[in-house]
Amino acid sequence: RRRDLPTAQEGIQTDTSGIHFGKLRFPPASSRPPVYSRPKELGTFGYGSDREFVMGSQELKYYYPADLNHPSLSEGFDTFIERDSTKVENLNGLLNYFIQADHPQFERLDNPPIVLYRGVLTKIFCLLYNRRDGFSLSATRFNKVLFLNETKTEAKKAQETNQSERQKLMCYWGYKFESLSTLSKPCPSDKQELEELIQERLRSPVNNHNEHCSVFKSSLDNFRLLMGAEVDCIEGNPNGHAGFPDYVELKTSRIMKDSHQRNMFEKHKLLKFWTQSFLAGIPKVIVGFRDDDGKLCSIETFKTLEIPRLVRSKGHWVNALLAFNDVFLCLGSKRMPRVCKAGPWLHCLSCKG
Ligand code: A3P
Ligand code: MG
Ligand code: MG
Repeated sequence: RRRDLPTAQEGIQTDTSGIHFGKLRFPPASSRPPVYSRPKELGTFGYGSDREFVMGSQELKYYYPADLNHPSLSEGFDTFIERDSTKVENLNGLLNYFIQADHPQFERLDNPPIVLYRGVLTKIFCLLYNRRDGFSLSATRFNKVLFLNETKTEAKKAQETNQSERQKLMCYWGYKFESLSTLSKPCPSDKQELEELIQERLRSPVNNHNEHCSVFKSSLDNFRLLMGAEVDCIEGNPNGHAGFPDYVELKTSRIMKDSHQRNMFEKHKLLKFWTQSFLAGIPKVIVGFRDDDGKLCSIETFKTLEIPRLVRSKGHWVNALLAFNDVFLCLGSKRMPRVCKAGPWLHCLSCKG
């Protein structure tokens, strides 16, 4: 956090050559844009209602649109079965998966992979835009494989413990929207069966212990990535297109009343939504817009690959992929970033390790 650098809002300039951030320029003139290859799913695992680990897709949910007449996303807040956020899981789920799936991916030691959750990559990706929330990572190299794990900062822990009732409720809205937008089985053609599944989702208390995770491989230039990502649900064909399921990311956001609010939504929220979904190859983001009382007002679908064009056309979008390449290549290489005055991340970005 260097105070002499401009804030993201005032400081970032872009043109076709990259990003200019104060006096820094990403990428350096000599480098070309890195290529992030299309993710390919290797398998799935999940967590049950007591947070027990399960291999396979039994926790996968199926998209079925929420009813806009639903009274409020606050409904059932008093029966919310909430995960204990102080329990640390690190990379356990993903490692359990790899142990049980016995993947050959670890055997190519000429080009060992980097193992991480998608959330870590999302944080790195959004780094230039989010100068408010800090984060910390731990990196472990074992048998040439690099494991990257997010560890909670003291500020994050304090933020979680000091959450107000209102913040807890707003957080619940996100989970409630997921619960009102999904079915526990693929949408049946039989009307009565469908009605039963809809009644089931209305009755069931929201439980955020349950999760479905996709494990996939991708690469960033020469770096092989093995990643895990929590996925909200799937739409239509379980096999998807080109070997990747038609997963859907569900989000809630405050209803926008004017073009300024729309601009802010595109500039700040769509950036995060896009990054989170793009990195895991999730083709669709479905946003439930709600008012300040948690009443669902409208639902909008965004195709992930169309989001950059949508936002860039309004002058906000920057080619962030270029920028975080430097950080990532430093991490992935043997040259781990050294801590310097500017902090390891800026150091890494500005002088290439
Ligand atoms: P919204 O994103 O709709 O608010 P995700 O969308 O990543 O699947 O997460 C589901 C919900 O978990 C979010 O819904 C939000 O309510 C809650 N959540 C996820 N990450 C959070 C964070 N870092 N801080 C607070 N709440 C979070
Ligand atoms: Mg989710
Ligand atoms: Mg979601």
